Amino acid sequence: MDATRRTWMIATGVASCVGTAATATAFLESMEPSNEAQVNGGPIPVDLSRLQPGHHIVLLWRGQPIWIVRRTPQMLATLKRTQDLVADPLSRNTQYPTPTWAQNAWRSIKPEYFVFIDICTHLGCAPIGRFTPGPQPGLPNDWLGGWLCPCHGSRYDMAARVFKNMPAPANMIVPDYEFLNDTKIMLGTHRL
Ligand code: FES
Repeated sequence: MDATRRTWMIATGVASCVGTAATATAFLESMEPSNEAQVNGGPIPVDLSRLQPGHHIVLLWRGQPIWIVRRTPQMLATLKRTQDLVADPLSRNTQYPTPTWAQNAWRSIKPEYFVFIDICTHLGCAPIGRFTPGPQPGLPNDWLGGWLCPCHGSRYDMAARVFKNMPAPANMIVPDYEFLNDTKIMLGTHRL
């Protein structure tokens, strides 16, 4: 099943272009941010204990679509193959800064869990998760999985690193977060 059919929408009201990218299949109440957090835009805890490998969550936080993907070993293995194909493999771009703790090939704290803001760095559309490898409409035949921006065709790999020679100038942004335990994160904070 393609990733677009495995999204768990936590919040409604995500921008319409995100809605086309993510089909709601379940609503996880335990992950729902509190009203206060939604109103104030403060840090929110997100429980990942029910997130299965290869699946992802989309939630709206501070008006931005946040994706959390639990990457499989196969997904992580693609990052070695895209390393030389992406424009900024270690996320050194200072105009779209990536936290120093995510300036690695997998762009996360734990390689398995990938948290990022699904906003294209070109003109702000919401790229669509296209996790199934292989030939398919709108993608090269050697596609390994990642995100495709529907607006002008920018492509990103499984760490939301933009490929070379795309309209988008930079990798998609990684927000602050930290792990509270093995399967729970706090989105919006990162204490070193
Ligand atoms: S907004 Fe994504 S490619 Fe233009």
